[in-house]
Amino acid sequence: MRALTKPIPALALSATAALLAATTACRSNTSGAPAPDVVGATDAAHEALERTMDELADDHARLWRAGTAGDWKQVDTEIGRIEFGFDTVRREHPRIGAHELSTAKALDSFTVAPRFALRAAVAAHDDAGFRESFDALSAACNTCHEAYGRRGDPIGRPR
Ligand code: HEC
Repeated sequence: MRALTKPIPALALSATAALLAATTACRSNTSGAPAPDVVGATDAAHEALERTMDELADDHARLWRAGTAGDWKQVDTEIGRIEFGFDTVRREHPRIGAHELSTAKALDSFTVAPRFALRAAVAAHDDAGFRESFDALSAACNTCHEAYGRRGDPIGRPR
């Protein structure tokens, strides 16, 4: 399993780096200003997105607790909830504010590899693989937040 999951985060990272480089270049060409904080989102869309994100954060914390307790069935359920949350974001917020990055592209670039690795860890009941892919998922959350200029505490292992 490890041999299979190893190259995937590396792939995701290079895709992420390329995408970030592209969006950063785009921004500095136009204004030279620092990354905007979710520019132009209407209040209702903003609130809906924040609610979905808060649910994602709860699911993410439950995922960690289930994984570290070795409750693989619950881990599977939590991954499903997170995927549902991502699908909600994709459907309800095809664009976030006035950002040039499409939500579908962001989700595909940042979250597919860690979700695949998590599912592989669940299938193998692989404790170390779970921790590694959980961290990769947290990194994906943070990469997307950076891409959209969200300021706030980074996502990581719950304390
Ligand atoms: C598609 C990109 C994207 C992904 C992937 C993503 N987020 Fe977010 N997230 C955002 C954006 C954009 C905001 C800012 C929302 C706003 O303020 O309008 C945000 C805000 C948040 C917030 C703050 C909500 C609030 O009430 O202010 C939390 C918590 C959060 N995300 C958790 C997560 C977690 C946990 C994950 C990963 C499991 C994740 N996010 C993945 C784009 C993303």
